[in-house]
Amino acid sequence: MSSFMLAIDQGTTSTRAVIYDVAGESIASGQKEHRQIFAHPGWVEHDATEIWNNTRAAVGLALAQANLTRHHIAGVGITNQRETTVVWNKLTGEPLAPAIVWQDTRTQGFVATHEADGLATVIKDITGLPLTTYFSVSKLAWILENVPEARELANSGAALFGTIDSWLLWNLTGGPDGGVHATDVTNASRTGLMDIYSCQWSTEICSELNIPLSMLPEIKTSSGHSGICHDDQLLRDTPITGILGDQQAATFGQAVFTPGAAKNTYGTGCFLNLVTGNEPVTSSEGLLTTVAYQLEGQPPVYGLEGSVAVAGSLVQWLRDNLGIISTSAEVEELAASVPDNGGVYFVPAFSGLFAPYWRPEARGAIQGLTRFVTKAHIARAALESTAYQVYDVVASVQTERGEDTGALKELRVDGGMCVNDGLMQFQADVLNLDVIRPKNVETTSLGAAYAAGLAIGFWDNLEALQSLWKEERRFTPNMDADHRKELLGRWNRAVGNTVGWLE
Ligand code: G3P
Repeated sequence: MSSFMLAIDQGTTSTRAVIYDVAGESIASGQKEHRQIFAHPGWVEHDATEIWNNTRAAVGLALAQANLTRHHIAGVGITNQRETTVVWNKLTGEPLAPAIVWQDTRTQGFVATHEADGLATVIKDITGLPLTTYFSVSKLAWILENVPEARELANSGAALFGTIDSWLLWNLTGGPDGGVHATDVTNASRTGLMDIYSCQWSTEICSELNIPLSMLPEIKTSSGHSGICHDDQLLRDTPITGILGDQQAATFGQAVFTPGAAKNTYGTGCFLNLVTGNEPVTSSEGLLTTVAYQLEGQPPVYGLEGSVAVAGSLVQWLRDNLGIISTSAEVEELAASVPDNGGVYFVPAFSGLFAPYWRPEARGAIQGLTRFVTKAHIARAALESTAYQVYDVVASVQTERGEDTGALKELRVDGGMCVNDGLMQFQADVLNLDVIRPKNVETTSLGAAYAAGLAIGFWDNLEALQSLWKEERRFTPNMDADHRKELLGRWNRAVGNTVGWLE
């Protein structure tokens, strides 16, 4: 009777539950948006309780839409916005502070201090991640330092830390009534606390920062048994058998499993993930060493990631903060109403600049303004900024990996913005690479379903998943080399002008 998988996709702006059949087709989904809380410039918070309530509601909506019950669901996969940090009371289940979101830059002081005292280098060597405001480590340290109750409970063993996957897993499996406190290796690889070689928490970093090991979740594989939904849940008795950070889930959902293969996801931010193999590869080009996935009983598969903080969220900003569009979908038409960007370059360094620059003190700028410029040029420049940021990341991958060690020959794309044909053509043009869009562009939830399904034999193996991947459209580059060079030259100058803004 159990003939479907259910994926929970807890993203930066909303939570979705999607039900998949064995052909990898989504048959129903439910979605709930949650509040983005901006208490101070540079701060971004979520209410973890709201997210948990939305998760349950989204699951209910999906089951109702499909007219199914828990008996039809063979297993659950969880995927999530990564790095976002939750600390909660394990006796009551109450969060001890608002969740600090991955985009939040309040911990710049922490970063500066530990760049000066050398801990940043230790963290980079152990975790494969540069010390920036992006990862969980500085956010957890901030909560322990600024929320007295969190420090007290952490010292007495009654506070738990987790990224959103841990928070949902703990709640789904019973919360204070025996909830499982665990995470998966892909999420752990984004905290800045995990030894990337051993895939265990680093006792050295934790002791330097006075983070009690007792508050950290157990690290599990991405595909494998993590827990069973508690009796008081709609999904009671249903096993949770897959957990992956959302970018790793999208990689998995794109059937990007083998060294040299890569995907780029256009979500709130934009994330390029390249699979490198069973040994971690470190980068001197601003790419992150990360775990791509780990199947039960097998060694981890590593990857390199180029993370761009702002992509889809820039379109939301045009809608919510500037009001030049009333729905996100309108941006495509507005941008297409002018033949080019009118000389405008938009560097959306709202959270500083991520890969490959890692400049937390950079701030956004719209450059090249003249009286000629209209909102259509600004919309176009905003969309183009996504393509340019991806160019910067791809250029780093090419330099890092070199032609014969798996440089990109083409790029698989997914996520909300990739349905925009104009943007994808421009992406292919500036990259001078084929850009390939699959039939299913919602690869994040699909990847979580795949990982959970593999663990229980819903799907047999990676080859079976590979055979479900289908190309929908290929965008081939069609831009004159001199023109490309000119555009990229202007973009580089614009980026240079945003760096060092707060210094
Ligand atoms: O690292 C942050 C990332 O996981 C957020 O993804 O889908 O909200 O852009 P998304």
